[in-house]
Amino acid sequence: MNIEAYNKIAHWYDDYTRPYLEGVNGVPDSLRLKQAHIARVVIEMDSLTSALGLDESQCLIARTIALLHDIGRYEQLVRWGTMSDRASVSHSELGIAEIKKHNSIGHLSGTEERIIFAGILNHSRREIEPNLDEATEFNCKLIRDADKLDIYKVFIEVDMGDNEALKMTAYLDLPEEVGVSDKVINDLESGKLVDYVSMQNRHDVRLMLLSWVYDLNFDYTRAQILERGYFNILSEGLKHEENAKQALERLELELRTREIAKGLKEA
Ligand SMILES: [Fe+2]
Repeated sequence: MNIEAYNKIAHWYDDYTRPYLEGVNGVPDSLRLKQAHIARVVIEMDSLTSALGLDESQCLIARTIALLHDIGRYEQLVRWGTMSDRASVSHSELGIAEIKKHNSIGHLSGTEERIIFAGILNHSRREIEPNLDEATEFNCKLIRDADKLDIYKVFIEVDMGDNEALKMTAYLDLPEEVGVSDKVINDLESGKLVDYVSMQNRHDVRLMLLSWVYDLNFDYTRAQILERGYFNILSEGLKHEENAKQALERLELELRTREIAKGLKEA
């Protein structure tokens, strides 16, 4: 893939999204936020791929996945009035259907197309689907890490801001309560991602976000979560919860052991 091929997709993306963003009845804040999220994930992806030293073609394929990973959100919001996949359809599948309908990546090779569709599909799955070829799986891992970095950023900003409606959405309408649910701790102690149905309060949501640490694929991302302070900010209020202490230690170790191992190798 070359830059001309990418630019063609970027132009299509602008043309495709414009009518949604110029909606006659005003544009919902959530769509503007999603547009900004996509733009930042593209930047996160460029940082990640350059940290990994990938070649230009590989970087551009990954950037295309970043640009298109949430494109289904536009049609989803207009058609169903929600960004909840549970209440509507999978935004990843919808995005792929829209890209196919407009033949917007048809100028790429068949292999590139397949990798990009798999990246979009797998960015929002609980786990990456099994039995993918190496290049496809690698690209799925890239988008999952780049996306998570920006989700952490957005969540923390919303949490620290004073927009209560956004905060309610970020916390899935769950109440602020002291205490962490045992079910969430059990998920974490088995090294699993926290199940959405286990969450009963806002501490549980914070721990669910932290549990993503077990699902990260690259040392770069782990280091960024520590360096940018995301781990400290999210775990701050949880440190005083007796039943969460051990889980937090394990999470921090998960982030740091890779860092330590890398330091030893470089020493
Ligand atoms: Fe998404």
